[in-house]
Amino acid sequence: MSVVTLLTLTLLAAMFRSSSAHQASSSIGPQGEASNGGAADPAFPWSHLRLPSYIVPVHYELRLHPNLTELRLSGSVRVQVEVKNDTNWVVLHSKALNISNAMLLDHSMAALSEQVLPVLHHPGHEQVAVFSPRVLSSGHTYFLHLQFGAELTEGFYGFYKSSYKTGAGETRVLASTHFEPTSARKAFPCFDEPSFKANYTVTIRRSPEHIALSNMPIEKTVRLNEDLMEDHFATSVKMSTYLVAFVICDFRSVSATTSSGVKVSIYAAPEKLHQTHYALEVAVKTLDFYEKYFNINYPLPKQDLIAIPDFESGAMENWGLTTYRETSLLYDPRSSSAQDKLWVTMVIAHELAHQWFGNLVTMVWWNDIWLNEGFARYMEYIAVEATYPELHVEEYLLNVCFAAVGRDSLNSSRPISSAAENPTQIREMFDTVSYDKGACVLHMLRHFLTDEVFQSGIVRYLRKFSYGNAQNQDLWDSLLIPKCSPSSPQGTSGSGELFGRPSCDWLLWLQYLFAGEHLNLTAMMNTWTLQKGVPLVTVTREGSRLLLKQERFLKAVLPSDPVWATLYLWHIPLTFKTSSSRTVHRHLMVTKTDSVDVGDQASWVKVNTDMAGYYLVHYEGRGWDQLTQLLRENHTALSYHDRTHLIHNAFQLIVTGKLSMGRALDLIGYLPSETHTVPLLEGLGFLGAYYRMLEKTAEHDVTQKLRTYILRFFGDVIDRQTWEDKGSVTERHLRSEVISLACDLGHAPCLRQANQRFADWLHSEGKLSLPADLTETIYSVGAQDERGWEFLLHAYTASPSETHKHKILSAMGSSRDKNKLSRLLEMALEGEVIRNQDLSTLVYLVARNPHGQQLAWAFFKKNWGFLVQKFQLSSFCIRSLMVGTTAWFSSAEELSDMRSFFQSIEEQASQLRATQVALDNVQKNVLWMEMNLGPLRDCANMRPVVETPALSAQ
Ligand code: BES
Ligand code: ZN
Repeated sequence: MSVVTLLTLTLLAAMFRSSSAHQASSSIGPQGEASNGGAADPAFPWSHLRLPSYIVPVHYELRLHPNLTELRLSGSVRVQVEVKNDTNWVVLHSKALNISNAMLLDHSMAALSEQVLPVLHHPGHEQVAVFSPRVLSSGHTYFLHLQFGAELTEGFYGFYKSSYKTGAGETRVLASTHFEPTSARKAFPCFDEPSFKANYTVTIRRSPEHIALSNMPIEKTVRLNEDLMEDHFATSVKMSTYLVAFVICDFRSVSATTSSGVKVSIYAAPEKLHQTHYALEVAVKTLDFYEKYFNINYPLPKQDLIAIPDFESGAMENWGLTTYRETSLLYDPRSSSAQDKLWVTMVIAHELAHQWFGNLVTMVWWNDIWLNEGFARYMEYIAVEATYPELHVEEYLLNVCFAAVGRDSLNSSRPISSAAENPTQIREMFDTVSYDKGACVLHMLRHFLTDEVFQSGIVRYLRKFSYGNAQNQDLWDSLLIPKCSPSSPQGTSGSGELFGRPSCDWLLWLQYLFAGEHLNLTAMMNTWTLQKGVPLVTVTREGSRLLLKQERFLKAVLPSDPVWATLYLWHIPLTFKTSSSRTVHRHLMVTKTDSVDVGDQASWVKVNTDMAGYYLVHYEGRGWDQLTQLLRENHTALSYHDRTHLIHNAFQLIVTGKLSMGRALDLIGYLPSETHTVPLLEGLGFLGAYYRMLEKTAEHDVTQKLRTYILRFFGDVIDRQTWEDKGSVTERHLRSEVISLACDLGHAPCLRQANQRFADWLHSEGKLSLPADLTETIYSVGAQDERGWEFLLHAYTASPSETHKHKILSAMGSSRDKNKLSRLLEMALEGEVIRNQDLSTLVYLVARNPHGQQLAWAFFKKNWGFLVQKFQLSSFCIRSLMVGTTAWFSSAEELSDMRSFFQSIEEQASQLRATQVALDNVQKNVLWMEMNLGPLRDCANMRPVVETPALSAQ
């Protein structure tokens, strides 16, 4: 804000203060909402972080002129508001905006005052208050008119500047927005809370060489003069502020139409247009799928998807104009791997799911952001499984639940629905709990209710709360049909008949599934959403009964920890299979201890079928041995989901001391005969992670032993791999992981192959095309040599594909040369060659490298101030740096170093949950070391199993 404006406002405020104070205190603050207490400026009439509820925005008319040469934004907004209680003040959000010319008009557009109205500021709450000398009366409509200006700054939130270089080396500037969760207020003054839904009519001025995009299509364009065009966009549907979006750029697009007539376009920098075709196909297919699945049409005439060169996170679901990081949208058939393709498909499915979950129906407040993100994450799987079955996305769902367990088994976790008031707390809600635990709990619910009941329930929820807001209870209420009798059939909204069957059938079906059990869905789901943690069910066979006990599963538990085990109780939809029956048995466990009948004959019992439930299982007595034996003798008696779940379960229990490392290794002893990728990768993943952890210690003998063990154990799988992009997505995934690990472990044949290919690639000056799935590994091997690394850096600078650049970066970051790693870190800080958006990835890559771990941590500590300023506290970037740079620490010294650094930045660190997550994680690693180093040193199971006659015969 300029000094002149500040002075003017202060003077005007002083002019009005005497009368305003009186009128405000008599009229503002109905229904107990306090007036005038505790605000930084004593004259500021509102003391809460959340806006008063007695003025409601209905319609915004927004005029914007982003000047890409001067990097300035000027604009005006006219907000139509409805007043619910008499007041003199309009309080709304604004951050770093220079507001001038405030006016209030009545319903007939007559100004309420001759004078420009004073605007008071409360920067701490990111609010402004406009004073009206005349009382705004309850039940009436007014128009608030404000002019404002701002800078188009670098950064990733609000209305920000981005740029890219053309092949000819010319820099092109663009401007884009990212508002979620609380940055719309940085682009225009607004009621920036998800429940204040309104319509938007946007006008944007731009130069003729640019295009402007917003949520809605352009209705008309006016040429104002030689150098200035004005685009008028159609009025939007009712929506929250965080979904508003604008982009001004010189991009080009490809388009197609969905079966219901929605125009879909993919926008990218002109030279990247050839990478947009796959996204177009995915977006059209996915929109078609969602329209059918939700039985609700996408309500806008168009959906634009745009690849923004500077983007902090992965993508954003602005209604009708979804924005993406380039790697999340662009697919280059020549250099993208099978995994890159899957990623693009899933990100699009995620953002398009939000067009319903989030945009059409929005959570009331950020404490329930999981209703957006958990659903969008889960819908990725439902949609991609249906639209691209060949991608086998269902194979990855377990990883979502495993990620959730990882966070939830530390004390620093939080309930899915958690209080969040200020912007820092709100941003931190976008975490694994909202996304992954949210999705996993929905998966459990879907299995519990059946697909049909789940689908019809969420359709009912979406219909009922369309263009409105909802909370958890609304979801639970929509999922179960409250009453159902033949004379009063459900489904008046139409969704009841969705499957050609009346809803009553589903209720009967449910009652059948849980015969005799009283079902209180709210009580059940509250145990999953309102308390943190993941349950551990311990099962013990006693004759024909299986005794059950539930407690919270916690890693890194110390004697000083609070009484954690007894405090928690879940309603667990338990499922199990036994050797003597093919069917899945169900039981809703609502007490601490319980039991079920499994019969006398069962030689094994496997609980939590396909891990459809969000809980871990520990088999006491002979349970683990029986399952280990089953896997050895006939592993296909269990589904690949069950096998993967058992492996995950066993390795989780090690750090709690409930299962020894030796017994977990015994369990995966069957893996050389495993033919399915998912359990194989699960076992390989644990051993790879252990190796990485040991590699950084002075325990060279154990490290070497583990290395030999892994290479021998997976020898056949490694040798089976070919060096090409052939086969199904699953085969390609396995190949890229196995070859990467083998080269990482220094497997000679692997290094030979990779070196040869890298040499050929160098010789061709980078023109030779390498197998996309193996490029990263080949580059990593090549990066260990001076010439190879330098050439990769050159290729990085020149490459037009961001996915390709990521592969190169990953390779450069695996160098053993500390000088090279330091050079990379410096480049990331400069933000020229390595963009700021890739900083956290780069630092993570360096931290993962045993030669770079300390460098990355030192970098993080040294540049903390700069990083927080650049990315905002609690942004994805800062959080992933905090957890990522320390992820492999495993000693008491490292833990205490972390503690003292966090102490030195106490004021910021204490605001972040991520601080405790990082500490808990390292504490867990320290504990793991204490418990397992000894056993690993003399672990009998690590004598290569492959040398036993039974296994060498495989
Ligand atoms: N709504 C989020 C975008 C977002 C990011 C909001 C950060 C607030 C803060 C979007 O739908 C999202 O979830 N994006 C993911 C990618 C997605 C595939 C999971 C992201 O940006 O990581
Ligand atoms: Zn999302």
